[in-house]
Parts: sequence; structure tokens; C-alpha cells
Amino acid sequence: MREPIVIALDGTSASGKSTNAKLVAKALGYLYVDTGAMYRSLAWHCLEKRVALDNEKAIASLCRRWKAALRNDDGHIRLYVDGYFPEKEIRTSETSAAVPTVAAVPGVRKWMKIKQRDCAQFGNLVMEGRDIGSNIFPETDFKYYLNASLDERAKRRAADGVDENLAERDKRDSQRAAAPLMIALGARVIDNSAMTAEETSTLIINEMRERLEAAG
Ligand code: DC
Repeated sequence: MREPIVIALDGTSASGKSTNAKLVAKALGYLYVDTGAMYRSLAWHCLEKRVALDNEKAIASLCRRWKAALRNDDGHIRLYVDGYFPEKEIRTSETSAAVPTVAAVPGVRKWMKIKQRDCAQFGNLVMEGRDIGSNIFPETDFKYYLNASLDERAKRRAADGVDENLAERDKRDSQRAAAPLMIALGARVIDNSAMTAEETSTLIINEMRERLEAAG
């Protein structure tokens, strides 16, 4: 049987990863995976269980024990926690503040790598994150890295009603020791500061169609 195809879509915060990953997945008939949501779910679970965020060992231990299982919800692969997907809870400011700390724990990244690779059991994927092309699926031939100017990204976040220190977030994501945000080897870098989501996704979709056709 043919191996599932994985499109890795990495990039900075507010660079349009989610919107574009969903558009590309829909156009190609692939499944969509938001790996940030998985880290957010663990951060929410840590807050629920009152695990101290400065205790790496306790976070890693909770991650090893939590009952988290993958499900395909209409083409979105999601991580359910005790049979529940905390859709609203993972977007609160408390969870957003906790997630970079949780995502920097090496034991967490090890667990996530296994779970995220396991998503391929469901079929072809568009997986968005920070280390998909560099660490989760380094073997994939299809890697994209999205970026936009800090100004433009701040405007996009503000339009969503979110006030966030993006420069600080980028710094934390890029400077952590475990699987930092980086441009994966062979990734096509797209600066979409002056592009709409439709333009960005069309570029990826057209290139993917050509490459898939050429590969037979
Ligand atoms: O994309 P997002 O804002 O939902 O991501 C939430 C946090 O998780 C962010 O601090 C970066 C981190 N993250 C990560 O370290 N690796 C990923 N593959 C996805 C997200």
C-alpha cells in the first residue's frame, strides 16, 4: 500500500497557517491536523489538574498518563481528552499563556511526535505546526514555511480580537532547546505579508497538484 502523503505547513504565529492548511486540505481532499491544538489541550489539562507550570517533570508525567486519543471529525484529526475535545477551553488567554511552557518540555515533545506521526493512520494529511517538516515528518517531500512581517501579523491578530506579544512568542518558539521553530531543509518559504489567504493557498495547491501529477 502507498504511504500516506504528508504536507508539512510550519511558520510563525499569525502567518496564516490554520487558514491555509484548511484551504489546502479541502482542495486536495486531505485531512487537516492542527498540532498547536494538541499542545493547547495539554496546557489546558495541566491547568485543570493544577500541575505547576515550573515543574517540567510533573508536566511530562501528566502527559505520559493522560487519556488522549485521536479521532477523525469530518476530516479534522483531533486529540480528545477523556473523550472530550476542549474546543473553547484551548483558546482562552490562560491556556494561551501556559502553552509555550508546556510545549518546551522535552518529554511532551517526545509524546507529541509519536501521536502526530500516528495521524497518518487516517490518510493523507496537511499538518500545521512549528516543527512538522524539521522534526515530525522530516522525510516528507512536501514542506512549506509561512511567514509575514511582524506588523502584518499583529494586524491579523488584532482583527481577530487578540492582543498578543508576537515577537515574544516567536522568540520563545524559536529559542527553546526541544524542537524549536525553524525552516526545515527543503521547505518552500512563502512570505505572505502582501497576499490574501486565497492567494497563498492557491500557490500551494497548484504547486502540489503539479508535483503530485509529475510523481504519478
Ligand atoms: O499554533 P498555536 O498558536 O495554536 O500554537 C500554540 C503553541 O504551541 C505555540 O506556543 C507554539 C506551540 N507549538 C509547537 O511548539 N509546536 C507545534 N508543532 C505546534 C505548536
